[in-house]
Amino acid sequence: MDILLKNNKEIIKNIELINTKKCYNEFEVIMVIYQIALENTLKRLINLKNIINNHYNYEVIAGITGRIKSPESIEGKIRKKKVDNNYKSMIENINDIAGVRIICNYKDDIYKIRNIIRKQKDIRILKEKDYIKKAKKSGYSAYHIIAEVPVKIKEKTIPIKVEIQIRTVLMDFWANTEHKVKYKTKKKLSNIDSMKLSIYAKIINIINDKIMKIYRKQNAKAKGVLVI
Ligand code: GTP
Ligand code: MG
Repeated sequence: MDILLKNNKEIIKNIELINTKKCYNEFEVIMVIYQIALENTLKRLINLKNIINNHYNYEVIAGITGRIKSPESIEGKIRKKKVDNNYKSMIENINDIAGVRIICNYKDDIYKIRNIIRKQKDIRILKEKDYIKKAKKSGYSAYHIIAEVPVKIKEKTIPIKVEIQIRTVLMDFWANTEHKVKYKTKKKLSNIDSMKLSIYAKIINIINDKIMKIYRKQNAKAKGVLVI
């Protein structure tokens, strides 16, 4: 696998590459690099959003957000995944240190967006997971892409991993709520409530499809495939 910061020496070398007077420790250097990757990805996607929305003449992409994973969450995930606790292992195993989320209205928009992302030469796709075709046991539904984007640090260009999640507004609503009630509270969610959430995810999926069908019927003159 292509990893950019192959070992700690390499990471330290990157400290010199960052043109700043501020003193960074190794972890902060890595986070700065991920931050740049996130910002570059957001810029690219916002640009694509304008092109796509103009082409189809409606809001295919309703919103784009991004975040850097907190050090506590990174630590938690390293423990959960039972992988080595060092920077090399972190870079190799934690795919969502930089994460972006693209929100749209309809399920078929997700695949339009996916296809356009696939065509971008500067976004190298490493892995795709379709939790729409097959939802997770929890009920979670979304399309995930793990990609590498180039980050220029002085004369060097290094590939950095970014997780791109593409969801509909309704999928996002479900996932945000489920995340809050399952992870963000100290109280463990009961099996019954977990089961209910999983059923509601299925209902949401049906509603999403039904509303999409009505919308598509009224807007049958679909535009051709966007080539960019
Ligand atoms: P992690 O779950 O990130 O350790 O890695 P993975 O390889 O299992 O990736 P997966 O694609 O399953 O999950 C990545 C991300 O998707 C998570 O960090 C969440 O943001 C989101 N996600 C996955 N499963 C669920 C779920 O059941 N509920 C919610 N709310 N979000 C989920
Ligand atoms: Mg995550």
